[in-house]
Amino acid sequence: MNKILVTGSSGQLGSDLVVALRQHYGMSNVIESGWRIPSHNRSLIYEVLDVTDRTQLQKLIEHYQIDTIYHLAGVLSAKGEQHPDRCWDVNINGLRNILEVAKAFKLQVFFPSSIAVFGPHTPKLNTPQITVEDPATLYGITKVAGELLCHYYAQRQVDVRSLRLPGIISYSAPPGGGTTDFAVEIFHAALQTGTYTCFVRPETRLPMMYISDAIRAILDIMQADAAAIKIRSSYNIAAVSFSVAELVAEIQKHLPHFTCDYAPDFRQAIADSWPSVIDDSKARADWGWQHQYNLAAIVEEMLAKVDVRSEEPGVERQEIGALR
Ligand code: SER
Repeated sequence: MNKILVTGSSGQLGSDLVVALRQHYGMSNVIESGWRIPSHNRSLIYEVLDVTDRTQLQKLIEHYQIDTIYHLAGVLSAKGEQHPDRCWDVNINGLRNILEVAKAFKLQVFFPSSIAVFGPHTPKLNTPQITVEDPATLYGITKVAGELLCHYYAQRQVDVRSLRLPGIISYSAPPGGGTTDFAVEIFHAALQTGTYTCFVRPETRLPMMYISDAIRAILDIMQADAAAIKIRSSYNIAAVSFSVAELVAEIQKHLPHFTCDYAPDFRQAIADSWPSVIDDSKARADWGWQHQYNLAAIVEEMLAKVDVRSEEPGVERQEIGALR
């Protein structure tokens, strides 16, 4: 039976993943956790957990008899540049604690890596599974090390599985300080004010994925036969790639008066260091990955589902903006 712990559960991925996990494995079998209780806490089973504290983590695993961890706690690319110590501590020491505990208690682990493992010398088009990894951000460095840690522990009987996620587009919870956040913010702005100031240039083209595809990818890789998971560092995974200008044009098909202007900040350099199109043929061949949402479908669903009535200005956005 699956008894699941989700770290960083109130973040952009966790908010939707927890719902899907509860549907699959039952309400009481999914324990949410985070470093603080979220203001909009909707969970009956939520534990405050600092993943850098191995003793606390171990107690929680024992208490709930956890057998699977979705380790989503992490500091993203833009925030990581502003809080480097925290980024290192959470992303490196937090992951190592998870893997050590997984080894001791024979747990299965999911670890989200990122396109941020790539850098300026990585081929930008059809980025291969195995290629140059020279990340330009501290976040990217922690994800490269994280992948190596996953591979290392997999050699020591830990069933750890990982995906190099692209920018995730979702409506339930805001993204938490990444470079791809513009692709979410733009929908809120389009519906709220009809105009958006984007922090990267219009020609910036990045790999992106709709949240439903991302959740399915995570569930699929975790449910696949262990023998099918041939890559134990992290799989390239992709859905769509589009430029900001193409995203704006697609939104304008629904909202013709929507306008976007551009004020690139430090996140432009981060975006420029990442690939545009990822080759995910290994994930497709090994465990049958297939995406469903293209740009048109993403835009249609986001415009229908983003709920601007209940919104206040995004805290994350203000925080990043203030430190530009
Ligand atoms: N969406 C992430 C970020 O922007 C990429 O892993 O940091």
